[in-house]
Amino acid sequence: MNKVHNITLINGDGIGPEISDAVVKIIEASGLKINWDLQTAGEDVIEKEGVPLPQRVLNSIRKNQIALKAPVTTPIGKGFRSVNVQLRKELDLYANLRPCKNLPNVKTRFDNVDIVVVRENTEDLYAGIERQVDANTAESIKIITRSATERICKFAFDYAVKNNRKEVCVVTKANIMKLSDGLFLDTYRSIAENYPQIKPREILVDNLCMQLVQKPEQFDVLVLPNLYGDIVSDLCAGLIGGLGIAQGANIGENCAVFEPVHGSAPDIKGQNKANPAALLLSAIEMLKYIGENLYAQKIENALFYTLKSGKCTADLGGTLGTKEFADEIITNL
Ligand code: NAI
Repeated sequence: MNKVHNITLINGDGIGPEISDAVVKIIEASGLKINWDLQTAGEDVIEKEGVPLPQRVLNSIRKNQIALKAPVTTPIGKGFRSVNVQLRKELDLYANLRPCKNLPNVKTRFDNVDIVVVRENTEDLYAGIERQVDANTAESIKIITRSATERICKFAFDYAVKNNRKEVCVVTKANIMKLSDGLFLDTYRSIAENYPQIKPREILVDNLCMQLVQKPEQFDVLVLPNLYGDIVSDLCAGLIGGLGIAQGANIGENCAVFEPVHGSAPDIKGQNKANPAALLLSAIEMLKYIGENLYAQKIENALFYTLKSGKCTADLGGTLGTKEFADEIITNL
């Protein structure tokens, strides 16, 4: 008998519940048994529980160690911290993983993109250390530590080995920020020595951006400090067709949270218009992560087959609603 996995499901708000329902139905139809621990979070729970990320959600993820998360709205001007930022911090999800690969029938400028962006998620200019020096001067501190860099580089190389990748390219601006980016580069070099089977490569971030929009097919796995990683991962999502299909994951030593890149899309909430593919691709990556490669492959095949047939949601040029797209994928399983 198959193992039953316990997985936290944060169904989010906005379009979150619609796309979560679709994805849960598809996974169920694949035959894989998952015991979903449904945890609500976001705007809709503030009224009842006072905060958008109640402690019970964190407890559930800590217990199950794996979560699938739909988008959550960050209320503007209500004084709440973003649920996403808080989750990453509380659970020390230090690696942001964004596989960016062309999908069948999704038209883009390039048809041979297969890049995995590994972004350091905890420090750099995002450590939040800022001060107003005087009325006309503000200062942000860029923090790079050897320990955080070691673990993100190790993560990138381990991912490359596990997923039969050939190269891990480090991205910095070490020619200008000789100490901080220099430390990132130096640490990368010492980690790379432990992985002789993976080709090392070094590139400056400005050159990378130019190369990405000219010849993206030359890149394999990229590892970057937080700020460059944030920008470059959106650039790569754009290369493959944008938000409706951009998947992601935030991974730590003890827990991993898989989620699409897009937000809660309040403009199409409750209209059966949202594309569930980005959440489904995140779930497929999650299944690979927990070792359910056969089910991951089966669902991916059904999704790709459905996309090839042109039956999809309007954002990808189709005419189907969220539910009908999910039903089509299920038929193709
Ligand atoms: P958004 O990604 O929600 O929407 C941008 C545009 O893309 C909208 O026109 C929307 O309709 C469309 N879109 C997004 N996902 C789609 C899908 N699956 N299918 C079809 N169309 C889709 O970005 P926006 O409007 O800036 O953010 C809305 C809320 O989401 C904000 O409160 C923001 O803080 C939050 N957010 C949450 C994230 C998360 O939970 N990881 C990530 C990004 C934003």
